[in-house]
Amino acid sequence: MANYAWLIVALHAFVADAATARSPTPPMGWNSYNSYSCSPSEDIIKKNAQGLIDLGLADAGYLSVTTDCGWPAKHRDSEGKLQWNEDLFPSGGKALGEFIHGLGLNFGLYSGAGYLQCGSTDLPASLGYEEIDAETFAEWGGDTLKASAIGNSWRISNDIYGAWRSIWRITNEAIRYFKYTTAGAFPDLDMLIVGLGALSYEEERFHFGMWAIHKSPLILGAVMDSQSIPDESFKTLSNKEVIAINQDSLGKQAELILRSTEEEWDLWAGELSGSRTVVGISNWRNNSQTVEVDLGILGVASADARDPWARSNIGSLSGVQTVDLAAHEMKLWILSNIESTTPPQSAGYYSAVDTTLKGSAVLSECGDEECLPTNHKVGNLGAGASATFNSVSSSDSGTKLVAVDYINYEYAFSTAWGWGSNTRNMTISVNGGDAKRWAFPVSGGDWYETGRLTIEVDGFIEGEDNSVTFAVPTGDQWAPDLVGLEIFE
Ligand SMILES: *[C@@H]1O[C@H](CO)[C@@H](O)[C@H](O)[C@H]1NC(C)=O
Ligand SMILES: *[C@@H]1O[C@H](CO)[C@@H](O)[C@H](O)[C@H]1NC(C)=O
Repeated sequence: MANYAWLIVALHAFVADAATARSPTPPMGWNSYNSYSCSPSEDIIKKNAQGLIDLGLADAGYLSVTTDCGWPAKHRDSEGKLQWNEDLFPSGGKALGEFIHGLGLNFGLYSGAGYLQCGSTDLPASLGYEEIDAETFAEWGGDTLKASAIGNSWRISNDIYGAWRSIWRITNEAIRYFKYTTAGAFPDLDMLIVGLGALSYEEERFHFGMWAIHKSPLILGAVMDSQSIPDESFKTLSNKEVIAINQDSLGKQAELILRSTEEEWDLWAGELSGSRTVVGISNWRNNSQTVEVDLGILGVASADARDPWARSNIGSLSGVQTVDLAAHEMKLWILSNIESTTPPQSAGYYSAVDTTLKGSAVLSECGDEECLPTNHKVGNLGAGASATFNSVSSSDSGTKLVAVDYINYEYAFSTAWGWGSNTRNMTISVNGGDAKRWAFPVSGGDWYETGRLTIEVDGFIEGEDNSVTFAVPTGDQWAPDLVGLEIFE
């Protein structure tokens, strides 16, 4: 997918037809970048490749060893071929490939897709040399090529950062890809920062679990020896049941089912082979909390549940579950023997065309394939502005399940390294009640691709005269654009 952060392709496929030889499950392996930055060496790569074997991680599925930036010499040879830096890699690329293959592992290589390798001012990358580089990589025995497209502003190209906040940012970039993810096509949420001391152990499980259910490649970055990886991190990285979620043959990315922003937790679900479902409950709050999860929203009446982290059965679950979450915990359940029930059904769709606007808010018309399903959006929802749906029907009073169709293409390219946000806040107030805030993730590949966020909104009154007002919270600059809303009962 053109919009994925990294394209990982099999090399012969790179030359011939990228679609035919893609790995059917997300790639797993090790990459030199997180521990060695752009300063790899022959010793480093060999030691870590051997480490994958010795630690049993190759057996767990981590099979590729990728030398990231920093391996080439400054100049191409007279035929225009890239060369290995002889000081760092005295035996050269072919010998390194043979060593890695000798261990039963795959030899991965990195090249920037621009003129220079990422993070470098003088090391050549592949732009203009794609064909010759692919051929040279193949001569060295390379199996996979990691090509990055730094500077190409319509791709997601801001990397993971060694801090908790990048887990939220990357998750909110990745949500929308569920439409495209399938066996052989995976969104790359970037390398794992498990075992690097950047996160608490609970956060490492959260990160690993989130990457697993999104079907991201699982690429280790820690130094592959038992002294360097804490036991708790090692347990996370080698948890076979969580890895199996990621490697499931269906290749289906979990979807965000319900977001509770002020309460700081999300509900996720994804289809697994064998008529199973993985459910994720992510606690974004840095405190423990107890939440209620209604399995009915997933269309599940009852099911047998298993906890893949604990590798134990939970028993049969049904109805509304009360769930205790630790600070920054990602709870995972694998549901099997599922008895279905009818999930909440649509009880009316309301287009943004019919809203009453205040302040800077403007209604605009979009093209045929844009701003679906209404081909319109209310934009410019800035400070003091609002859009109100009048005459919204509800069969009873209280909380409703509401799906908001919206557009947010706030990538935060330049600010994501710091505290920049790719989500946009919007508040909703029903019948003049208190305004409540939700964080809307990136919805698509431009300002015309709709996303849908499903939330629970309180304050409805039985009848046909509910008013629902969308606005930007005080202190924020802009809300996402608004396309429409659907009520579920
Ligand atoms: C979460 O809370 C712990 C304990 O209070 C604190 O040490 C840690 O810095 C907090 N993490 C973040 C990301 O704020
Ligand atoms: C959204 O609201 C939260 C809570 O007020 C705030 O911390 C965050 O910075 C806001 N996000 C944006 C993009 O303004």
